Parts: sequence; C-alpha cells; structure tokens
Amino acid sequence: MATTKTDARRRKRALAIAALASLASVAVSSPAPAGSSHPQPARVAGAKRATSSDPCVPREDTLGDCLSAADVPIYLAGSSDFDSLSETYNVRLPYTPAVVVVPETVAHVEDAVSCAAQFSVPVQAKSGGHSYASYSTGGQDGSMMIVLENFQDVDLDPSTGVVEVGGGLRLGNLALRIHGDGNARALSHGTCPGVGVGGHFTHGGFGFSSRAWGLAMDAVVGLDVVLANGTSAHCSSSENSQLFWGMRGAAESFGVATRFYMQTREAPPAVVNFGIGLPGASDPGAAASYFAHLQNFTRDAPAVDRNLGVQMYMDRHGMSIGGTYLGSLSEFDAEIRPPLVAGLGADADVSATENSWLDSLAALGGAGSLGTPERGYDQHDNFYAKSLTIPALVPDSGLAAYFAFARGSDEGLSPPVEWFSIISLHGGRDSQIAARSGDEWGAYAHRDAVWVAQHYGYAADASAPFPPSGIAFIDELNAVLPDAMPETQFGGYINYVDPTLGRDEAHDLYYGDDLTERLRAYKAVIDPDNVFANPQTFEP
Ligand SMILES: Cc1cc2nc3c(=O)[nH]c(=O)nc-3n(C[C@H](O)[C@H](O)[C@H](O)COP(=O)(O)OP(=O)(O)OC[C@H]3O[C@@H](n4cnc5c(N)ncnc54)[C@H](O)[C@@H]3O)c2cc1C
Ligand SMILES: *[C@@H]1O[C@H](CO)[C@@H](O)[C@H](O)[C@H]1NC(C)=O
Ligand SMILES: *[C@@H]1O[C@H](CO)[C@@H](O)[C@H](O)[C@H]1NC(C)=O
Repeated sequence: MATTKTDARRRKRALAIAALASLASVAVSSPAPAGSSHPQPARVAGAKRATSSDPCVPREDTLGDCLSAADVPIYLAGSSDFDSLSETYNVRLPYTPAVVVVPETVAHVEDAVSCAAQFSVPVQAKSGGHSYASYSTGGQDGSMMIVLENFQDVDLDPSTGVVEVGGGLRLGNLALRIHGDGNARALSHGTCPGVGVGGHFTHGGFGFSSRAWGLAMDAVVGLDVVLANGTSAHCSSSENSQLFWGMRGAAESFGVATRFYMQTREAPPAVVNFGIGLPGASDPGAAASYFAHLQNFTRDAPAVDRNLGVQMYMDRHGMSIGGTYLGSLSEFDAEIRPPLVAGLGADADVSATENSWLDSLAALGGAGSLGTPERGYDQHDNFYAKSLTIPALVPDSGLAAYFAFARGSDEGLSPPVEWFSIISLHGGRDSQIAARSGDEWGAYAHRDAVWVAQHYGYAADASAPFPPSGIAFIDELNAVLPDAMPETQFGGYINYVDPTLGRDEAHDLYYGDDLTERLRAYKAVIDPDNVFANPQTFEP
C-alpha cells in the first residue's frame, strides 16, 4: 500500500511537523501559491487553548503543537498536498482549512479531534468530497478537515453478508469489491462511482435499486465513530442506539465514521437498463403530458413494484425517461414496457438492455468503469443545485406550471450555464424506502416522498465564475412546484445539500420539526462544545 505518493506525503508531513515544532507558538502561515484560487490560509497557531485543567499533563500552545505531539499526519497551507486534498468537487465553493489531517489509524482521528476540541477549531470529515456545499472542506474557512483516504479497506464476511467498509471508500470501488472474488454481493446506492460512502451512507443514499432494497443508509447495521471527546464508540441497534440513529441522517454534527458495517445482499442475476427519448418535449404541453403519463403509469400499472427504478431527465435540449428493472429483459418486455410506452406516442425511442449487476452500475455511472483512483481523485464541477422532496402526486396544474417555466425561462442563460432537472421515483407502490419507518431506520424525514427532484445548474466552463443568472434560474425552477401546490409540504434531500439555506431553514427542509428538535437535543449531549460543525450542523 506504500505508494510513492504516500511516501512523498510522509516526508512532507515530517517536514511540516518539524517546521511546526521549530516555530513553536509562532503562527504557521504561508502565502498561497501563485495562481491558487484559495484565499489566504488560516493561521493554525493563532488559536489559543482556553484552559489547562490538569497540571501534570503537558499542554501545547497551539493546534499545530498538539497535532505534532500526537504525531498526527497533517498538511498545511502552502503545500501542493494541502491544495489537492482540500480541493473541492464543487469548485464554485472553495474553502481553506486551518489544517488537513490525513489519519493512518483511528488513534490519529481521535487525537486530531481532541486537539481540534482543545483549540475550538471546527471539524469535518472528508470521504468522497462530493458535498454540493463543500462541507467536507469545512463549508467555511479555518476548519480541520479529516481526510479518510487511508480508510478504504473492505472486509466481507461471506457467511453473514455483512461487509466492513472504511469510511473513505468510494461507491464504485465498493461495488466492485463486494461483488468480486465470487461473492456477487450488492448494495443499493447512488449512481456516481466517485461519491464517497461517508457522506452518502449517512444522509440517505438513493439509487435505482433503492425502491427495492431501501436507501444505502438502510443497509447500515453498525458504525465505528470517533466522538467529540476523542474517544471511539461502536454503535448499532443494540449498542449506543441513539448514536446509531443520529449518525444515519446527521453524521457531520456528531462524529467521524471510520468504519461502516453494511448488510449486503445477493446481486440480482439480471438487470434491465432502459432509456426512452421523448420527441417534441420542447413544447411545454407535450413535456407535461409525458410526465403525467409516467406518473399515472407508476400509480396504475399492475406490474409496477419495488423492482422498478425510474426517473425523468430534462435539460434545455430535451427530455427522457430512464431507469432500471431488477429482472430479465423478457420480464421487462412483457410487463413493464407495454404500459410504460403506451401513453408516450409512437415516436418514443425506447432502448432496453439486459445487463449483469456490475455492467448495469457501470452504465448508470456513465464513465464506463466503476473503479476510481484511491488517491488523487481529480474530478470537479462548477455548480449550484437545489432539491425537492415531493410527498404527493403532482396535479396537472402543477405540471403545466413547471414545464412552462422550464421550457420558456432559460433563454437568458444561454451558454455558459447549462442545467438539468431529474425527478426520481422514490415512493410509489411497493417502495421499500417508505416501507421502513421509525427510529430504527435513522433520522431520515422523507420516507413518504413520492418523487425527489433535483435542479442543477453548472457552468460549461468550469474555471469561469458561476453566473448569478444561473443561481436565480435554479432558485426559480425549484420554486415552481411549491408555488403551484401551496397546501403540500415539500422538503429537501440533504445529500443534495444546498448552501444557500440558513441553518434553521435547512433543518426545516431536511428534517422537519420533530427530528430537528431531537437531533438538536442529542447534539447537546454528544457534542456539547460543538466540535463537529459546518454552516448547517446542529448547535448544542
Ligand atoms: C456527481 C454526483 C452524483 C451524485 N449522485 C447521487 C445519487 O445518485 N444519489 C444520491 O443519493 N446522492 C447522489 N449524490 C450526492 C451525494 O450522495 C452526496 O454529495 C454525499 O454526501 C457525498 O458523499 P461524500 O462522502 O462523497 O461527500 P463528502 O463531501 O466527503 O462529505 C459530505 C458530508 O458528509 C460528512 N462526512 C463525510 N464522511 C463522513 C464520515 N465518515 N463521518 C462523518 N461525516 C462524514 C462531511 O463532513 C460532509 O459534511 C451525488 C453527488 C455528486 C457530486
Ligand atoms: C392521469 O390520470 C388522471 C386521473 O387520475 C387523468 O385525469 C389524466 O388524464 C391522466 N393523464 C394522462 C397523461 O394519462
Ligand atoms: C466520551 O463521550 C461519550 C459520549 O458522550 C461518553 O459515553 C464517554 O464516557 C466519554 N468519554 C470520556 C473519556 O469522557
């Protein structure tokens, strides 16, 4: 496992620690490298410890001293490793951490959290780094980032099907490794292979097999967590059950999950990936009736059950329906295709392919391969997104308003802003997301959502500033259905976390009143000094 890159990092870390030690209590700071988009680095040593309660324990004067005394691997602003480790997936929202910690052991995580607590530096873990709001880089300057890239082990027990997974693994690598060695195991999760388990498993985790098997979160049967006081705890339904509840929904407020225990299932022998191009959808009426048909089909067709995963995709160029069916092509052709296609018109362009489980995932992932580099992942986007959880079928009046807006209001955005809307079937008949309710399934508020919509705008030129017109368009697009359905209680999906929401508004949309109150109360117990913090975490 000791790659050249790791060795180079180790050497640099040793240098960084030596530099920190010799600087003693002098603020550690260095100019941002030329051409860096990061603002000036935060001053690690500026933070002073509040008290020294135990005279027998040697105390350090600075966060840097504290980390180096514990021999925790760190990177500071000014090094290229610091820049690449803290680089955000969403380049629209770069932040500069006070320090980047790259633990090699759980003890390093514990020590790092203790030091951060001592110096009141907010902590966030980074798993895959795909937070829409760059929360794993802190979501603000001056945080401690704990990068979990050394926590990628996968250990499957074939007799129980429970797999232990390091908190820094990415979904594509996970899927490959639980399927490999003849094990043919599977989990339900999202489509992008580069997404990390740390954020995804702790905030829902929705993919095409989720109606069949539940959210990714629902397969978590245990967690190893480093808590705010620098100790570790295992949690499950029978051990530290409140921690187990809160980590599945709001982990970033409560701790660092170093290890997940996941109940895998047998991979299905065949999966159909299907796509349907919908001609003429630039006309708002045509687009609305396509969606109305899809909605009626999911409600009425007798063959619709948990095995169907389906979504609508729309951008300025067109509209399509796509998804998967956990079954064979002959079953799909006999039971799903006829009622799905019947209402779409003769020109609907259907493709359906029977795949193995892994080929199905690779096709959904788009990149052609599920494997992602374990280090040095370097994909980015420049984007702004909002989401809606929609707890009811959308009436024709809502669809008319929605597609009229989507089809008429994006002209001012002409390059460089592109956008898409994805509306995924989350509930509906036989959905196993909705079938699991109650605290034993974690702190997820939207099990009753029929649809989850995502509205995503991105700058075609990733290095150009994201235009304000793009923000306004996504805001307005996201508001059309709530405006058209004033009596319906919409929410938001926290894995599509929206940094424009204030803390209370975010809690309201992601959790609702009851969960918010209980999560806040638990925060006061488990992290009274607010060690784990970003702009939307719970406050004690
Ligand atoms: C290209 C793309 C495709 C996506 N597709 C889907 C999809 O199909 N379905 C879906 O549901 N979502 C999808 N998402 C959203 C994705 O699930 C979230 O962005 C998710 O939170 C990312 O997890 P991460 O570990 O990569 O993120 P990170 O940025 O590393 O972390 C996100 C948040 O979780 C916290 N966190 C991370 N790891 C831990 C840990 N070990 N312990 C405690 N807290 C932790 C971080 O501190 C941060 O607050 C997609 C996102 C992108 C960018
Ligand atoms: C959908 O079903 C409703 C009845 O619930 C009906 O009024 C409407 O016309 C249907 N729409 C389409 C496009 O089939
Ligand atoms: C750390 O916090 C946990 C959870 O609040 C608590 O159970 C444990 O006793 C604490 N450990 C120490 C050493 O304070």
